Amino acid sequence: MPNKATDQDLDTFFEKLNSTNRERELLVPPMGAVDLCSNDYLCLSKHPELIHALHEGIELCGAGSTASRLVRGHRAVFDSIEKKTAAWLNAPTALFFANGYAANVGTLSALCDASYECFVDRLAHASLVDGVRLSGAKKSYFRHNDMEHLESLLKKSKSTRKVIITESIFSMDGDRAPMETLEDLAARHESLLYVDDAHAVGVCGDEGRGLSSSGADLRVITLGKALGLEGALVLSNERLRRFLLHQARPFVFSTAPLPAIAHAALTAIDLARRMDAERTQIQNQAQILREKIKSEGYSSGLSTTHIVPLILEDEKAALDCAETLTQKGFHVKAIRPPTVKESRLRFSLNAGLDDAQFTALLRALEGIG
Ligand SMILES: Cc1ncc(COP(=O)(O)O)c(C=O)c1O
Repeated sequence: MPNKATDQDLDTFFEKLNSTNRERELLVPPMGAVDLCSNDYLCLSKHPELIHALHEGIELCGAGSTASRLVRGHRAVFDSIEKKTAAWLNAPTALFFANGYAANVGTLSALCDASYECFVDRLAHASLVDGVRLSGAKKSYFRHNDMEHLESLLKKSKSTRKVIITESIFSMDGDRAPMETLEDLAARHESLLYVDDAHAVGVCGDEGRGLSSSGADLRVITLGKALGLEGALVLSNERLRRFLLHQARPFVFSTAPLPAIAHAALTAIDLARRMDAERTQIQNQAQILREKIKSEGYSSGLSTTHIVPLILEDEKAALDCAETLTQKGFHVKAIRPPTVKESRLRFSLNAGLDDAQFTALLRALEGIG
């Protein structure tokens, strides 16, 4: 027997979806098109040394981990990657999670409860928002990167348990959070600072160390973006790590990630650290792309990094422009509400974009829209 209540809810959902023309599809990337939408910023997912390391990890550690790390899923290689990541990023300790979503949801829901107030940047990633929601903490959203607004909320707060939550580079706009001001506000208002460095690690900073400094109490990096794999690490002091090991539910109640991923991540970090030339190339191209977008009469919003939006007037324009560029051999995605307020193309630049392809991209943008 179909569940009638559910059927009605699905009908409502699909009617709304049809009326807003926001149906999503799962599409295999177009063959041969230049990648301008993945988060594989250093192209490590295709790097022969990393692929070799992953094979090697499977040979050494087997296919699956077989259980939660607290049962039988733990392997020495998880200790190795945690220590190596912590040393690279100047953090006391690190704890490995299956992915960034699990790391953020698991950490925030373990850390906070109804006695906390979380100050969350309005544009923070869904995994951060979901973690706060699940924790039951009071949510106070501050206007995107608006430190005066954040401070006014902190001043008004009666809570003695505060957490400021932000990304270091915002994934849809490509702008940076003002890290020093955030650290200062956290210190002055006795708040914890939680920074998601997913889009900065590997691509920004000296030896790809990202943008969140050790001034943050909790930092999250993901392996699924510039490091070409999957997984995430939460960086913190020893006591917080020990707490998360007991209390972060996606860590405790889920089969440990493939140990081979941790083995390969050791190589990914070595490779990423050496890629200063690629980091410079990506940032230079991003600057030229922003200038091109401006000269075509469009805005690239707040971008100052390798993520460059081209803001368009509406959803249809964004879809049409993405289609035009895809036909010209560039794989770019239209990002539309409700993911973002203003429809846009989101270019994410990567180290594989050579001079000829980049010049062709600039040409393809002439008269776009
Ligand atoms: C800022 C940010 N944090 C966390 C995540 C989630 O990471 P993962 O893809 O490893 O689950 C993403 C995107 O995927 C992200 O953009």
